[in-house]
Amino acid sequence: MTTERVPSNSVQSNVGDEDIDARYDGFHHGAIADLRSEVASIQTLDPDFCVFIEENGRTYHAYKPGCLLLAQFPGVGRILDVGTGTGIWAIEFARQYPAAQVIGVDLSPMQPQRQFLPTNVQFQVADLEDPWTFPNRFDVVHCRSVFPCLNDPAGLIKQAHDALLPGGIFEMQDMSFRFNYDEGGTYAFGTALADWAGMLRFTARRAGKDWTCAERYKQDMQNAGFQDVQETVYRWPINGWPTDAAERRRGRISQENLLSALESLSYAPMTRYLNMSKEEVDAILIDVEKEINDTKIPAYLPIYVVHGRKPCSDPGVGGV
Ligand SMILES: C[S@@+](CC[C@H](N)C(=O)[O-])C[C@H]1O[C@@H](n2cnc3c(N)ncnc32)[C@H](O)[C@@H]1O
Repeated sequence: MTTERVPSNSVQSNVGDEDIDARYDGFHHGAIADLRSEVASIQTLDPDFCVFIEENGRTYHAYKPGCLLLAQFPGVGRILDVGTGTGIWAIEFARQYPAAQVIGVDLSPMQPQRQFLPTNVQFQVADLEDPWTFPNRFDVVHCRSVFPCLNDPAGLIKQAHDALLPGGIFEMQDMSFRFNYDEGGTYAFGTALADWAGMLRFTARRAGKDWTCAERYKQDMQNAGFQDVQETVYRWPINGWPTDAAERRRGRISQENLLSALESLSYAPMTRYLNMSKEEVDAILIDVEKEINDTKIPAYLPIYVVHGRKPCSDPGVGGV
């Protein structure tokens, strides 16, 4: 178990995404250097702390140890996991709560076959941005790591609200694709890593998506009618730079994740929307990779965990 500093307001810099968009419109390499000098005054962190548990090479939050949700869950009910991917969360949740009925939904049927699953989990293929047609409503809706895919996060949150029973809970867990830097570090913001993230945010916007949408989940949930909305911001270090052993291990896992995703994240958007050649992208990625491997750089990605409750008096829509 370890402690970790969490930024409450460090996801802002003096350069907004609109400025970054303007820079990358008609992208050229000189613009990157300009941007570097402009973003040098990013805010540093507030001294809040959160606690994590590291076990078998995986990290778990310790708000309620062993829980897969930060929100309270009584152990019984209907659970929906949207954008379930491999189904790992849905399967772990079904194992942890045998009295719960868990449905995982994804565009892609990539989950394990029936014989490898707990009996209380099932998977369906559906587009989470289409109107939801579940015949029965849910006690919990969960959604994790979908920020790169969402065209309309507020629309998704509204659908989750409608699909819940009165008193039901919705929890979203996602990163904002904006690197922050640890307080006290000597590393100046405005690096290959920050530039790369800025380029990807720009290309995402061109594709109609906002890779910082997690920063607004709390407000979106409140707007959708959720009550008791609570946001907790964690951090994923980019490598093993933290001094705390558990956090350092988590950083190393994150480092592997980032390195393995560099090309898949970068090639299509940067060649399509920035008119770069593959060779130009590769040249940028060499610098990005160096920084991801540099433990003198105390960078991290903020992870937003936001949950809220549908009012008990709100009947919502759909069947029960
Ligand atoms: C990064 S994965 C996260 C998987 C899972 N939530 C987890 O945390 O392990 C994102 C998933 O969202 C799914 N996805 C993206 N857009 C979707 C959509 N419109 N409808 C349903 N699933 C979608 C992708 O197929 C992918 O499996």
